[in-house]
Amino acid sequence: MLLAACNGSQNKNHIPLAERFDPETQSYAFAIPNLPPVPGIPGLRARDCGQCHQTIYQEWRLSTHATALRDIQFQAELAKPDSPKWICLNCHIPLQNQRQHIVTYLADGDIFQPVTTENAHFDEALQREAVTCATCHVRAVSDSSSVIIGPNGSQAAPHPVQQKREFLREMCQRCHNPQGEGLTPNLICWFETTRELADAQDLVKAEFGEQRDCVDCHMPAAQRRVADTFLELPVRAVNAHSWVGSGIPKWYDGYDHLLERGYQAGLQVEIRDVQLVGDDSVHAAISLKNSFAGHDLPTGDPERFLLVLAILEAADGKRLQQDSLKIGQEWLWSPARKIGDNRLNFGETRVWRVALPNDARANKMIVMIYNVRLKAENARHMMQTQGVNEAFLPDGQKLVQELGEHYPFAMVIYREEIDLQSGQRRRLNSKELIALSRLEKGKPLEERDY
Ligand code: HEC
Ligand code: HEC
Ligand code: HEC
Ligand code: HEC
Ligand code: HEC
Repeated sequence: MLLAACNGSQNKNHIPLAERFDPETQSYAFAIPNLPPVPGIPGLRARDCGQCHQTIYQEWRLSTHATALRDIQFQAELAKPDSPKWICLNCHIPLQNQRQHIVTYLADGDIFQPVTTENAHFDEALQREAVTCATCHVRAVSDSSSVIIGPNGSQAAPHPVQQKREFLREMCQRCHNPQGEGLTPNLICWFETTRELADAQDLVKAEFGEQRDCVDCHMPAAQRRVADTFLELPVRAVNAHSWVGSGIPKWYDGYDHLLERGYQAGLQVEIRDVQLVGDDSVHAAISLKNSFAGHDLPTGDPERFLLVLAILEAADGKRLQQDSLKIGQEWLWSPARKIGDNRLNFGETRVWRVALPNDARANKMIVMIYNVRLKAENARHMMQTQGVNEAFLPDGQKLVQELGEHYPFAMVIYREEIDLQSGQRRRLNSKELIALSRLEKGKPLEERDY
């Protein structure tokens, strides 16, 4: 990054950010302005909020939002020369208080030449918290004080509260469905989850009996106290702060709490008509329905896909035959172009009719589904990345080189065995699926199914 050695405003080539981007419709180009303290509380860090909001704090701590900076894949991609780093950081660490340098101008209006100045309000501990409480809940009201934005306007809080429920509920859009013109032809993280959900809203209403937004599904409410230690205050419906999503954790220990955090796969699966046709082939109809995700399945990162495998296995476990179906997007990069998209819309059912060549040794058919975030081929590429910023992720360079050891690429979300002789079936439950997913840790890349 360029440092502001010159007085930008006098340099004709230094274009102010607000001239290059529209603050109204392209909010992703702007960090959230420095937040002065909130009266009545010790600080802006999640840990500070957690002194009173313990349950919410613990939920957030295990969420992907809390790890959006020390995500190994994020750091590997951030280090690529064609990443406009300051823009990536605007969604992954969006508060100015989280930034050591503030972007003021773009030299020649070029997003790869940000002109920056030192930030006197930089807080390193807050930076590590990535998408933290203050990202959504704190905004400045003057040069010297900030306020807590809340859904209900409680009068019982030790801090000032401004009631703005819609602001909070629409917050997701800023990062999960950025508005306005995109940036570089290769910008990663350009999603349309809100649009996908809007397109499906009639069906969602028919299926669930009411409209659902991101918060209804990803922050379901439960009866409890807003501030755990304030026993005199009433118990009421409070939104969980877990944001589980795909469930594929960012670190292997993320599997430890996945079920208690409320993980629910979007897909509903049914296997019908498994039969031997003549002597030469085994047929089955695998029905895949997006029953639970209001948006497309998968949504978010364009690299995500579902991999459905149908396998004929011998009694000794040897794979004899295999066919696969991929559900996701296909992109070409440099410049980015979407060339295919067979994702499942909400409510959509796809029936995959498989016909595998039979084999006299075949003992059972296995249907296995992976939810893939990163395929081995792309990981191999990523592991070559140099220049990982270790101020963001201690030991980052080594972690990137050992990506397969530390970072789950995929999760097994379904596995069913069908005995070809007896027709008997065995389907793994959630705990068994998680145990199977953990076995991917450190598996050589060439041995992975995806
Ligand atoms: C407009 C906001 C926004 C910007 C700008 C942005 N991201 Fe993201 N990023 C997100 C969101 C939201 C997610 C979560 C989506 C998901 O998990 O599928 C995400 C997830 C990711 C992931 C994890 C993907 C996965 O499948 O788990 C990586 C890696 C990443 N971003 C890299 C980058 C890089 C590199 C840049 C800059 C070139 C960038 N992001 C810019 C919002 C953004
Ligand atoms: C990504 C945005 C986001 C982040 C990050 C976030 N929250 Fe929230 N928070 C929300 C939303 C949305 C609601 C619910 C709005 C509603 O009730 O409609 C909410 C509700 C709350 C409530 C009010 C509960 C009630 O029902 O009165 C508290 C307290 C709260 N959050 C505290 C926190 C704390 C503490 C953190 C950090 C540990 C945090 N939040 C992080 C978005 C966020
Ligand atoms: C010293 C204790 C304490 C600290 C620290 C604290 N809060 Fe609170 N907060 C409360 C209490 C008490 C309430 C009111 C609870 C009620 O009405 O049931 C509250 C209410 C809230 C609400 C709900 C407001 C509404 O609309 O009703 C939000 C959101 C919130 N706090 C966020 C935060 C965030 C974010 C932080 C950290 C930056 C934080 N709080 C720090 C005690 C605290
Ligand atoms: C400031 C930007 C920002 C805002 C606002 C935001 N998110 Fe996120 N969200 C992210 C990023 C970045 C990630 C991915 C982090 C990573 O993969 O390292 C993410 C991840 C997620 C995931 C997990 C995806 C997965 O499978 O791992 C869910 C679910 C999610 N967000 C839902 C929400 C909801 C619901 C809201 C609104 C209440 C919201 N987010 C608001 C940036 C944001
Ligand atoms: C009707 C419930 C529902 C609604 C509404 C909903 N989601 Fe989801 N979402 C899910 C489920 C279930 C999954 C898990 C999908 C899976 O199996 O991977 C999910 C997954 C995700 C993921 C992880 C990527 C993936 O495909 O797994 C992100 C990111 C996400 N949701 C963001 C959002 C945002 C942002 C909104 C609002 C625009 C939203 N969701 C609205 C149910 C919902």
